[in-house]
Amino acid sequence: MQLGKPSRTAWGAAAHRAAHQVLEQGRIFADPLALRILGEDAETAVREAEQQPSRRSMRIFIAVRTRFAEDALAAAVGRGVCQLVILGAGLDTYAYRSAWGGRLRIFEVDHPATQAWKRQRLEAAAIPIPNSLTFAPIDFERQTLPEGLALAGFDSSRQTFFTCLGVVPYLSEEAVWSTLGFIANLPQGGHVVFDYSDPPDTLPPELRAAHQKRAAKVAEIGEAFLTHFEPRGLRSKMMALGFSEVEDLGPPQIAARYFPHRAISVSDKGGHILRATT
Ligand SMILES: C[S@@+](CC[C@H](N)C(=O)[O-])C[C@H]1O[C@@H](n2cnc3c(N)ncnc32)[C@H](O)[C@@H]1O
Repeated sequence: MQLGKPSRTAWGAAAHRAAHQVLEQGRIFADPLALRILGEDAETAVREAEQQPSRRSMRIFIAVRTRFAEDALAAAVGRGVCQLVILGAGLDTYAYRSAWGGRLRIFEVDHPATQAWKRQRLEAAAIPIPNSLTFAPIDFERQTLPEGLALAGFDSSRQTFFTCLGVVPYLSEEAVWSTLGFIANLPQGGHVVFDYSDPPDTLPPELRAAHQKRAAKVAEIGEAFLTHFEPRGLRSKMMALGFSEVEDLGPPQIAARYFPHRAISVSDKGGHILRATT
């Protein structure tokens, strides 16, 4: 992240969600606030997406990861979860359209500069901040999550669900494991959904080239990719941390679940979305 500046990749992810509402009519992930939170930038986001078909696969992946996380959250709330922590929230709109009201307390955690920028955007778009939401400005690389959440009034005795979408690649591996360790050790248990990518050197040539191009682009704007995981090693380390159930969808499982009627052949390497519960 560039010092004192909001995350540019947060804008990018929000632009993909907005374009998905128009170009795919929100078929995978419908978000009535996705265009509104971008304000005047929404039109540009959709136009640019339309003009660059190569962006489609990332747009679909972002729609899938958000849908997967919100479906898993809904199931967990049905089973007693009453706190949600959105790590690296960016321009995520869940808190502003949650149907759970006071039943689900929400914390949005993000880099202070990104969060301040989001709050300006919410105000400009006249999107009200619900009473159930608390903002927790935290830089994961400088402050610990338990410290930052405690300051925000997080109650560690409640069953909590964490989402961490589009964030893991930008954190050091140490910051990722300390976050997962915190979740795994919560007294009432924890649930987490995050996405990650296979190590670039394991990707087939075409995907590796696309990954390298994206990596160069994000490094240029000060948000370099730092962390990738090999799925088997990740699963066993998570089990050792205390997670008892790990569901990891790689590209073939994502295609089977979200595009069952399309005959597409996909590599087994690429972007993953993972849900784990202690
Ligand atoms: C690609 S955006 C994803 C935003 C959002 N989760 C989404 O899916 O639209 C990455 C997010 O990670 C946050 N982030 C990156 N490094 C961070 C750090 N060291 N501390 C806190 N947040 C960080 C950025 O501020 C940004 O909101």
